[in-house]
Amino acid sequence: MLYKGNRELAINGGKPVTADPVLIHKPYLDEEDFAAVDRAMRSTFVSGDGPHCRKFEEMLAEYLGAKHVLFVNSATAALELAFRVKDFPPGSEVIVPDFTYTSTALGALYNNLKIVLADVYADNGSIDVAKIKGLITAKTVAIAPVDYAGIPAEMDAVNEIARKHGLYVVHDTAQSLGSLYKGRKTGTLADISTFSFHGTKNMTTGEGGAVVTDDDALAARIRVLREKGTDKHSFLTDNRTRGFYEYIDTGNSYVQSNILGALGVSQLKKIDLMNGIRESVANYYIENLKDISEIEFIRITEGAESNWHIFGILVPAEERYWIMDVLRAEGVMANVHYSPLHMNRFYSDLATDDDMPGSVAFFRRLLRLPLHPCLTEEEQGHVVKAVRKVFAG
Ligand SMILES: Cc1ncc(COP(=O)(O)O)c(C=O)c1O
Repeated sequence: MLYKGNRELAINGGKPVTADPVLIHKPYLDEEDFAAVDRAMRSTFVSGDGPHCRKFEEMLAEYLGAKHVLFVNSATAALELAFRVKDFPPGSEVIVPDFTYTSTALGALYNNLKIVLADVYADNGSIDVAKIKGLITAKTVAIAPVDYAGIPAEMDAVNEIARKHGLYVVHDTAQSLGSLYKGRKTGTLADISTFSFHGTKNMTTGEGGAVVTDDDALAARIRVLREKGTDKHSFLTDNRTRGFYEYIDTGNSYVQSNILGALGVSQLKKIDLMNGIRESVANYYIENLKDISEIEFIRITEGAESNWHIFGILVPAEERYWIMDVLRAEGVMANVHYSPLHMNRFYSDLATDDDMPGSVAFFRRLLRLPLHPCLTEEEQGHVVKAVRKVFAG
């Protein structure tokens, strides 16, 4: 039971669970990562689309079971390319879940497309598939489901709707590297998928992203679009004798440095190890917090396995910020997460709170607990102890 006057709580003058803050996330970087970066720098091939980048792309394609992986400098760039490559008429509509990071929408907006927001489930933030059909118009060209917290969206249902209406599916898998949906890795479940390797993600290249697709034509054009509209990739790989490369399209500079390609290779080698540690931390939290009646865990989509990118608890909405402050005073750096798109100034014309009840409810109840592969057993114990203390009034 929550009791705000509990004198044991550090926020009320009691002794904190820990004096050393337990961080919410931290990248797992080891000597192999440092050595890989060092070697790449000493090779002096430091610019984009180098041999380490290509090796990383091959390894990731094999890991996912996908045909093409294109390493780029962010998931935001990957999303922009995923729409750019299709040349949809300006004003065409893209269905985007309301509870996502701005980049899911920016990818379409940068291509002069119109965002149509869909509500999400109140218990996991994933696009509510029953709401999609009612949003489809003659102008709809695409749906962009998102794997919030690393939990795959209901991709069978999304793909079935897309097939029926001839829509393109851009799967925002920024958070879900290593997650499974019905036995298949995310990245293989849509026309095109977009990963992030930002420092907070389950593997990192500092900043970074990837476009993943089985479609040869999409991959071939994105290879040009990410390299300023040139055929430099062919110049670097299979046409060295020509001596120049040609400008064949528009584009931007979205290739990644060879230094970061080397980091990608060494990080990817341990993705299953890192995700495995995350899973055991998550299981420890669930086992030790499941009896607290005032909290729920984020629901995992049926048939899916999470990569445990985020460990979220759903708490009473009216007490969420108080609980966060209490946990922080105890030394556990809990946090809320992004607000629904429509609650932000830039997107506020697109929907109201009443249009998006699931998204608003999920946002208001969500608190994230520390989850990363560097958490010690002692720190995990501190998290459990602090959460239990909050509800022990
Ligand atoms: C769902 C989602 N999509 C896209 C992004 C953008 O990723 P990046 O920082 O690599 O551009 C993020 C970032 O956290 C995200 O959570």
